[in-house]
Amino acid sequence: MDFGLEGKVALVTAASQGLGFSIAESLVREGAKVAICSRNQDSIEAAGEKLAAIRGEDRVFAVAADLSNLDEVNGMMDQIIAHFGGIDILVNNTGGPPTADFVDTTYEDWQRGLEMMLFPVLQMTQRVIPSMKEKQWGRIVFMTSTWVKQPRQSGVISTMARSAVSGLSKHLSNELAKDNILVNQVMPGPTWTARSKQIVSRLAEKRGVPIATIKEEIAQEIPLGRYGTAEEIANLVTFLVSDKSSFMTGTSIQIDGGQIKSTL
Ligand SMILES: NC(=O)c1ccc[n+]([C@@H]2O[C@H](COP(=O)([O-])OP(=O)(O)OC[C@H]3O[C@@H](n4cnc5c(N)ncnc54)[C@H](OP(=O)(O)O)[C@@H]3O)[C@@H](O)[C@H]2O)c1
Repeated sequence: MDFGLEGKVALVTAASQGLGFSIAESLVREGAKVAICSRNQDSIEAAGEKLAAIRGEDRVFAVAADLSNLDEVNGMMDQIIAHFGGIDILVNNTGGPPTADFVDTTYEDWQRGLEMMLFPVLQMTQRVIPSMKEKQWGRIVFMTSTWVKQPRQSGVISTMARSAVSGLSKHLSNELAKDNILVNQVMPGPTWTARSKQIVSRLAEKRGVPIATIKEEIAQEIPLGRYGTAEEIANLVTFLVSDKSSFMTGTSIQIDGGQIKSTL
């Protein structure tokens, strides 16, 4: 299938590894030019080199930036727009927050959660809209989590900040549809990445059981009986940002091996 991504410019954030990297990799393979960011200079450069090895250096631009610092976010956007001349596709991905029960969280935790998962997303989205309007073509994807739909114990910061992103996604889909800018939300369930390994390790340590025990317990909650892979999430996002998704906007799609129990 030709996704019509040849020559399109995409920004995928928080992308030195995990979901963000796999999405960037898939978009490069499909012919897009891709900008990526993460905080650690060495990691983002290494990720950029891996992507450049797929279809050439001219398709990749890697920038070190901390999304929780709005000055760095704006500096990154300036560099990418100067380098590629504009952004057609924005995949808003962020780092995940620490897990804790609400009663154990503080004002600083709430603030850090919003600074990491909401404010950069607002800022980046606002920056890409004018040129998408000019071209009368754009794709914006908000990466959130199934925790928006089915909150999970100790996931309060994620659920709180991402629910705001979720509302933004639906709002923007209405506001931008007349300009052919399609806006959708992707809610991944358990996907085996460095972050899920960390979460599983912490739970295993807390309960004094092997990591494999926790991983298996979580897998058993999923009808497909396993964690997803970052590549499986990337396949969905690639479709959503392509020409082939032309009648889809304002949608929230869970991709979770069937873990969410509700019908809709
Ligand atoms: N994996 C899952 O099961 C799952 C399910 C639902 C939702 N999610 C969410 O999806 C997002 C990605 O998860 P993942 O599993 O891919 O995590 P991951 O493998 O730990 O990767 C996180 C990426 O984000 C970057 N990053 C973290 N904080 C950042 C910041 N402040 N500014 C810029 N980049 C930052 C990291 O690089 P640096 O360290 O270099 O900054 C890394 O490239 C997270 O928000 C996570 O909560 C994950």
